[in-house]
Order: sequence, then C-alpha cells, then structure tokens
Amino acid sequence: MSNKKLAGKTAIITGGGSGIGRAISLRFAQEGAAVHILELNTAVADTLVEAIGAFGGQASVHSCDVSKQEMVCDVVRGIGTADILVNNAGIAHVGDLEHTTEADFDRIYAVNVKGAYNVLYAVVPLMKKQGRGVILNMASIAAIVGITDRFAYSTSKGAVQAMTLSVARDYLPYGIRCNSISPARVHTPFVDGFIAKNYPGKEAEMFETLSKSQPIGRMAQPEEIASLALYLCSDEAGFITGNDYPIDGGFVKLNN
Ligand SMILES: NC(=O)c1ccc[n+]([C@@H]2O[C@H](COP(=O)([O-])OP(=O)(O)OC[C@H]3O[C@@H](n4cnc5c(N)ncnc54)[C@H](O)[C@@H]3O)[C@@H](O)[C@H]2O)c1
Repeated sequence: MSNKKLAGKTAIITGGGSGIGRAISLRFAQEGAAVHILELNTAVADTLVEAIGAFGGQASVHSCDVSKQEMVCDVVRGIGTADILVNNAGIAHVGDLEHTTEADFDRIYAVNVKGAYNVLYAVVPLMKKQGRGVILNMASIAAIVGITDRFAYSTSKGAVQAMTLSVARDYLPYGIRCNSISPARVHTPFVDGFIAKNYPGKEAEMFETLSKSQPIGRMAQPEEIASLALYLCSDEAGFITGNDYPIDGGFVKLNN
C-alpha cells in the first residue's frame, strides 16, 4: 500500500499553472493525487504537467475561465469525480474606493468570488453523491486586516471567507469539509506583476518594503502554502472544517 498522503485521490485545482496553485498542484501530484488543473493560461500549466509526468505523477490541464459557469460545468462534467477542490485562481486590483471603477470591481468579483462559486457549484454535487470531499478556498490576510489600496480585492476575499463558512455548514452532513487559507505576501508572479505595473522604476525598493511588512522579514514561498494546503486536504485534517488559516509570517498578530 502507498504511503503517499493523497494516493488514489482526484484533485481539481484552479489557477494551478502559476505561483501558489502551481506549488499546490506539484505537491499534490507528488503525494499521489491525480491532479486536474483548470487554467486560463494553459501554456504555463502545460510545462508543469510535463514536469509531473517526468516523475510518474498524474496531471492534466483543462482550458477554463472560472468566471464562466457553463464552461466550468462542462470541464467538471468531463473530469467526472473530485475528492479535493482547491479554489485558488484569483486576480488583484490596487486602488482605494475612489480608484476602483465599476469595471475594476466587476472584473475582480467575476474571478475571485463568482469564479469560486462556479467551481463549487459544479463540484459539490459530485462530492455530495460520493459522501465525501475536501474543499480549500484561497482567501487572504487582506480579508482580516485593513490594507491600503485594496478595496475590491479585500472585499472579494472577505466573500471567499464567508463562502467557506456557508459551504462548510451546509455540506457537513455529506462528509464534505471546507476551509480557507489566508496568506500574507507570497513571492509569486502575481506579486512581481503588480509591483512592475504599479511601481515602475521602484521594483527593488517595493519588493524590500513588501518583504518587511511581514514581521518575519520576508515573503512566503509558494511551497510553504502548498504544505499547509496538503495538510488541510489530507485525511490527517479530518477534524478540521469551517476554519480560516492565516499563514503570514506574523503579519496579522505581530505587526505592532
Ligand atoms: N501571492 C500573494 O501574495 C497572495 C497572497 C494572498 C492570497 N493570494 C491568493 O492566492 C491565489 C493565487 O495567487 P498567486 O500569487 O499564485 O497568483 P498567480 O497570478 O501567480 O497565479 C494565478 C493563476 O490563476 C490563473 N487565473 C487567473 N484568472 C483565471 C480565470 N478566470 N480562470 C482560470 N484561471 C485563472 C492565472 O492564469 C494564474 O495561472 C489568488 O487567489 C490570490 O488572491 C496570493
């Protein structure tokens, strides 16, 4: 018998081609899961699938925009089964209320909130039928503390935390667990991209400032988030549901 933590499990991971989702996809495949990556950017996900195949792991990429319900339902129907869902795909917007247009607000909500709902809508009935399942939603410490210029993003992640509680409550009788992770800054293309876009010419300085905003003095590595995700999605965490887990280098409680 395999001693891998996710042997025999099927995992659906959104946004699994880059950053945190990539690290989670790799780790879950190393632990024996058959990984299905739902991605807009299939080119980046293809390279990961190749790397997973090279060590004998199982992974495939499904071209999918999580904000489109019909597309999500078609893809999930094709996969047909799911023991684990990681709702990770997300996008950011920098701006306070007055610098958030209706289009900005709708764009963030379409992916971060409606996208998570769409995948839950497609996957939860499969889990319910199986009488088991684990869901992990990617929230953010931006939902817990006030962060400058993150109006739309913060509120979208607050919705992700509330969605986590709602699903955890309603599907408890069906053997489905649902939790969320709230990272502080993680060094991914997401962070590099927004530094480049919003602070041109000051990239190194901004990287340093953002690193030091974690009392521990650095950003997290995506692999560190993947370790927590693995634990929460494994049978070892069978008693855990309806909770949010900050992973933040002391950001929430030690920034004083
Ligand atoms: N990096 C951080 O500091 C940080 C901190 C807290 C929370 N998060 C959250 O973690 C998650 C992953 O962030 P990351 O830093 O790895 O980002 P990333 O940009 O590196 O990766 C996100 C992936 O999601 C995919 N994606 C985006 N929109 C999509 C859509 N509509 N349909 C399908 N796929 C889509 C992208 O193609 C990309 O591969 C996000 O939800 C983000 O809000 C990140």
